[in-house]
Amino acid sequence: MKQPTYHILVCNSFRLNSDPQGVCNRKGAIDLLAALEEQITDRGLDAAISSTGCLKVCDRGPVMVIYPQNWWYGRVDEDAIETILDALEEGQCVEEMLIT
Ligand code: FES
Repeated sequence: MKQPTYHILVCNSFRLNSDPQGVCNRKGAIDLLAALEEQITDRGLDAAISSTGCLKVCDRGPVMVIYPQNWWYGRVDEDAIETILDALEEGQCVEEMLIT
């Protein structure tokens, strides 16, 4: 099985019965998933995207994590996604946007 170069997690905290819940969902994480998918496709990046439950840094939501680099980004919006993916294409992170 070919594994993707990147695995991008986006917190979209929800309950098991699929009721929306949590900071990231309320702050539009579901729209970020669509924007991220579009950007990944447009750029031809070899990345898988996963929607997750709470990543336990709710005060920094919406939260996005890029593996295998283990880069955690907070307060992500569509503009941030563009900036983050621009940097990722260069093999870099956006330090000022990382959760530290
Ligand atoms: S709801 Fe997203 S980190 Fe907790």
